[in-house]
Amino acid sequence: MSLRPVEIVPSVLPADFAKLGDECRALEAAGADRIQWDIMDGQFVPNITVGPDVIAAVRPHVSVPFEAHLMVREPDHMLSRWVDAGCDMLIVHAESTTHVHRTLGAVRELGAKPAVALNPATPVDAIRHVLDLVDMVLVMTVNPGFGGQAYIASMEPKIRELRRIVVDDGLDVDIEIDGGASVATIAGASAAGANVFISGSALFRDPEGLSHGIAELRQLAEAADRW
Ligand code: DX5
Repeated sequence: MSLRPVEIVPSVLPADFAKLGDECRALEAAGADRIQWDIMDGQFVPNITVGPDVIAAVRPHVSVPFEAHLMVREPDHMLSRWVDAGCDMLIVHAESTTHVHRTLGAVRELGAKPAVALNPATPVDAIRHVLDLVDMVLVMTVNPGFGGQAYIASMEPKIRELRRIVVDDGLDVDIEIDGGASVATIAGASAAGANVFISGSALFRDPEGLSHGIAELRQLAEAADRW
């Protein structure tokens, strides 16, 4: 199976929320492949962020695709709101809804790309039977809720296990990691089998700016011993 393209997807979590439109325009200009909105409800994770109206307000100002990382309990009743707000992909946590197979199918029915996310403690087996429904699997490399946390390197065997399944089954599925991605950690995640990388704090902290940060992360991910 050929290598899947490396994609760098900034999270807007560390952005200046007083000027999200400008921040997203800057991310697009800096070469972001997509933009991730971290959606938090204060129930599934101990933090609250933004709703669909904020995404809808920013949508007309940038052309890159948006993905919504739904760190919310019972995501089912708001799926269409995220799609109507302009999200191209919805990432549903396997732990967040009883019938995740049905939820992912509903995302596809709405015309968006379904993706499924796994918290660090959740095994790959939990999503084995929905891999045929998704465009991407997100393997969390931190416990969700906050940016700036340390990368959990013990997730790399899980990434490798998932990549093995994707390759053996010939699935057209990207593997994304989220949490602690930086110049120090991205090569390990890439060598394990990830090809999509969320970066928040490390990217926004790059002293040479967003373009440099995205280009450096991309170069390091591509240079890793990928398979
Ligand atoms: C965790 C969030 C973060 C954020 C990126 O709930 O999902 O992972 O997107 O965080 P850092 O700052 O670690 O790149």
